[in-house]
Amino acid sequence: MPDNLMPDKLVWSREVANVPLPPLVKGLPILGSGLELASDQIGFFVKQYHEFGAIFRVQALDRKFTVIAGTEANQFVNQVGTEFLSGRDFWQEFAKELGVKDLLVSLDGDRHQQQRRLLQSGYSRNAIVHKFLETIQLISDLTTDLRSPDLRSPFRLQVLPLFQKIVCEQLGMLLADCSPSDYCDDLVKFLNIALTVTVTQQSPAFLLWKPSYKRSRQRVLELARTVIAKHRHSQVKHEKPNLIDDLIADSQKVHPQLSEAELIAAAIGPYLAGIDTVANTCAFMLYALLKAPEVMAKVQQEVDLLFVNGIPNAEGLREMRALHGTAMETLRMYPVAFALQRYAIADFAFKGCRVNAGTHVIVATTVPHFLPQFFPNPDCFDIDRFHPPRNEHKQNGAFAPYGVGAHLCLGSGLAEVQIMLTMATLLHQFEFALESPNYKVQPVSNPVLSTGTKFYVHVQKRKF
Ligand code: HEM
Repeated sequence: MPDNLMPDKLVWSREVANVPLPPLVKGLPILGSGLELASDQIGFFVKQYHEFGAIFRVQALDRKFTVIAGTEANQFVNQVGTEFLSGRDFWQEFAKELGVKDLLVSLDGDRHQQQRRLLQSGYSRNAIVHKFLETIQLISDLTTDLRSPDLRSPFRLQVLPLFQKIVCEQLGMLLADCSPSDYCDDLVKFLNIALTVTVTQQSPAFLLWKPSYKRSRQRVLELARTVIAKHRHSQVKHEKPNLIDDLIADSQKVHPQLSEAELIAAAIGPYLAGIDTVANTCAFMLYALLKAPEVMAKVQQEVDLLFVNGIPNAEGLREMRALHGTAMETLRMYPVAFALQRYAIADFAFKGCRVNAGTHVIVATTVPHFLPQFFPNPDCFDIDRFHPPRNEHKQNGAFAPYGVGAHLCLGSGLAEVQIMLTMATLLHQFEFALESPNYKVQPVSNPVLSTGTKFYVHVQKRKF
């Protein structure tokens, strides 16, 4: 066995005989910790980490699960997660909603690795770095109303839906060369209900039977079928194959990796991938900047310079120190995908506590984001943490906004550029203000950490 897979007895072991179960968090009768979890899940995990350490059990209504957290948990999943944990059961339920047994995220082992290789290039940073002009143009198209001279000024803007539209449109065009246009509301509805019922299990299953959900689901599949048909009939050969080109090339092989139904389900990936993740990160980033005017001033100065010679390029974006620090600090303080859902597939001991096969395990990947030993003054929005000599995010297992282990986000490089470019464009073109300087966002976990739809700002075109 390679050295790095040898059990570190202090952290984990395959030996479970006489090892006790993890401590149980005391909650209310019947409700358990349900209310605390509903109001602030990540805050709850951090609080229990301080009280019990890296492993504890939680009961919330009829749900029971074990939480593992801290840098040790992230390192454990990175090293040997595939031996002990699987997300298959959760994600297979989600996959069913798209008419298939498996999606990339529900697979384990060799099949997972093979499918990751198939999708890797399509989801890579390269999908956006050569297409800044188109990406910026889409933002301009979707914000035409905000530039209209007839607009009463300043305009009251609901933040999250605008970002969801921008992000969905960008990823649809970049990765699939097909606009989602009026399918966007269906994609948002489908994703929210399907995820909260099947993966996070926050919503009751009957929602899957509601006609309005079923209609959105059908429309989502209709969009995917249109994308595939359009690519099959198109005479246009893309200079650089996009994600759908790669999927279709695979389907033409003698032994394709994906069945026709799996091909359709994979084609919807680009449209769903950013709706919760990138859109909420952008919304939180705007909020954080509006709460820190001195950071906003730095970022705005930087982005104005970025656009001084027209459309920026990837090198220019990479040099945006304040913008980059702001994006990273947003991912730290507002980690939209703050935990992973798994089942134990074999018995193991972690930090002196036993986890039995079959246990529902939540890997609270982003708890270290809030621990002062890794990020001093963790409640302070500090954009200089991520640059030398501090490099706080480079400590092993401390910074995990994109997950950990075998399923580490495949679109993280693309997402980082998308977030920076979208925010740079908007901050260059518009002046934003909170509705009141004392406004505090009330994040919701539904299913990801979100600003929710009650976050509004005032916006007007910038005057130069
Ligand atoms: C701020 C933005 C994003 C965040 C925070 C994020 C977070 C995550 C996390 C935590 C996972 C792991 C899920 C698990 O292990 O159960 C994941 C997986 C994945 N993400 Fe992202 N994501 C983001 C944006 C994107 C984008 C823009 C794309 C593609 C366009 C993307 C594509 C994927 C894919 C394909 C997987 C599955 C990987 C696998 O199962 O091997 N993500 N993401």
